[in-house]
Amino acid sequence: MQNQRKWVFATNNSHKISEAQAIVGTNMNLVSLREAGIDIDVDETGTSFEANALLKAQAVFELTGLPCVADDSGLCVNALDGAPGVYSARYGGEPVDHRKNNEKLLSEMQGVQDRRAQFKTVLCVVGLPHMSGDGAELQKPMFFEGAVEGEILTEMNGSDGFGYDPLFRPEGYEQTFAEMSANQKNALSHRGKAFAELMRFLSIESVEGGVV
Ligand code: IMP
Repeated sequence: MQNQRKWVFATNNSHKISEAQAIVGTNMNLVSLREAGIDIDVDETGTSFEANALLKAQAVFELTGLPCVADDSGLCVNALDGAPGVYSARYGGEPVDHRKNNEKLLSEMQGVQDRRAQFKTVLCVVGLPHMSGDGAELQKPMFFEGAVEGEILTEMNGSDGFGYDPLFRPEGYEQTFAEMSANQKNALSHRGKAFAELMRFLSIESVEGGVV
């Protein structure tokens, strides 16, 4: 697969950057906002993962002119009607505090039997010319999704990863994301699956003579 071109990954979250870079390997060269010399904090005013990923990708592409990938992700809990969802980062209040978020989630889930939840990621790519089905060159944003099913534990376990990882145990596993190695998490995770979709798209476009 090709694509050693530079991509801006619209985040300064160092965990996300290292997860994403480990997932894409040498297929993409991801640089953070900081590395791209951009100081921007995009207001995530959308009410869906798609809308927020698009806001971030578009804003960063306008500043850099480089192909940009933005990820918006979060935890959706069945018994909480999909909360915290797009509000995952600030669930426990401002400023973003992962420990407070987990404590609030534990308290909302106290005594709740149905513990099913899923992590979701939507990636939005802006600034990458690509081919439509009939061979025309397109510039419109593209979206790639990934999700992982699991359950919310009654206490935190593990110290790796970030965010809600210590409370989330993926279906079919004994460990939480925070107890897994980075490679194990990436092979299962919502972000891993979404980036795999993006890489599949890039390899198809390059093989089929696209303009990627
Ligand atoms: P963002 O909007 O993609 O930055 O993600 C919002 C929030 O969702 C993060 O601050 C975390 O609380 C949560 N989140 C997203 N992905 C993960 C993950 O892989 N593990 C744990 N929490 C996550």
